[in-house]
Amino acid sequence: METTTLEHELPVYARIGAEIVSGDGVMVETKDGQRWIDFYGGHAVALLGYRHPRLMAALREQAERLFFQTNAVDVEVRQRAHTALAGLAPEGLDRVFLVNSGAEANENALRIAFVQHPGRTQVVCLAGGFHGRTAAAGAVTAGALGRWYAFPRTPFDVVTIPVGDEAALRAAVGVQTAAVILEPIQGIAGCVDLEPAYLRAVREVADATGALFLADEVQCGMGRSGAAFAVQLAGVVPDLLTTAKGLAGGFPAGAVITTAQLASKLTIGSLGTTFGGGPMACALIEAVAHELTDTDLLANVRARSEQLRATCQVGPVVGVQGQGLLLGLRCNRPVAQILPALRERGILAGGSSDPHVLRLTPPLILEACHVEALAAALSDLPEDPHAPMA
Ligand SMILES: Cc1ncc(COP(=O)(O)O)c(C=O)c1O
Repeated sequence: METTTLEHELPVYARIGAEIVSGDGVMVETKDGQRWIDFYGGHAVALLGYRHPRLMAALREQAERLFFQTNAVDVEVRQRAHTALAGLAPEGLDRVFLVNSGAEANENALRIAFVQHPGRTQVVCLAGGFHGRTAAAGAVTAGALGRWYAFPRTPFDVVTIPVGDEAALRAAVGVQTAAVILEPIQGIAGCVDLEPAYLRAVREVADATGALFLADEVQCGMGRSGAAFAVQLAGVVPDLLTTAKGLAGGFPAGAVITTAQLASKLTIGSLGTTFGGGPMACALIEAVAHELTDTDLLANVRARSEQLRATCQVGPVVGVQGQGLLLGLRCNRPVAQILPALRERGILAGGSSDPHVLRLTPPLILEACHVEALAAALSDLPEDPHAPMA
């Protein structure tokens, strides 16, 4: 296949060997004319799919009005984005700092934890968690230290505990712990949802020790779980919540959302960012947030999720995990064998750090017919893992 030359690019991504040239709704089209239903959403970013009318209108209108201004000046659309996010977040989380990515959001949230606890030295994180590739976020990302964390040391002590193990949680978190960071639904791990009881235990242990509970909803937030934020499914309120990916529907944006009490510890210069909170991102954040509150999108997430669970345990799929439209299909063979065969059948899906879990992170506008097409494609895959794909 003819693709654009990659000679000037750093060789850091595994590629699927296709060039996507356009998208519309949940469909993407490749340069050689293949059309795929996008169950991957560009790493879970295309929250409202492609060419969504509300996003296109917000983008055009804001571009005409004011393309960029810094945080040193008041910009009305930034205040509207803050208000919209505070309206979506769990009760009590109503202070917002806008940045440009998930890692940057986590980096700043961890910084806020150490501003609150200047004497503490440790962060507790969960096995399998992914929080980003910057110094602090990478330090609490599972496996990073042995694999791709190239810094000579971590900025704080890191203790990694097994998922769902309350005894390990209670043993690890103490008066040295500034924060416990976790994804309520672990995305890259393969859509591993943490039990509500475990999330409540994290809240309890954090309250008992003063450690801050940092919920990383970079991937599972903004409606993907079927609630605006996944912690709301468990009725738990963290001290800090981060989100990014679909936050601005594809425009780079991240957010730290926290309490008035923690915000009161910050002073001028505690945090900073040049592009974060830029008017274009803010217009899109507001549009995405309003789409979640003004339409039946969350109901659609829950309905499509149920349909996926009910109909997609076919072919190589032996189980379904996760919530909403962050679902992992556990397969009886490595997904590396399955993904190309699905693309041949018109389905673009993703993998995860679990070689047997196929990750679905489609746009939340997914329709019943798309789920039917996925179920048909999965059923159509040959039984024999070694048989050539038809
Ligand atoms: C849960 C979670 N946190 C943080 C990140 C890092 O986000 P970014 O790549 O925008 O820095 C990711 C990215 O996949 C993620 O899934």
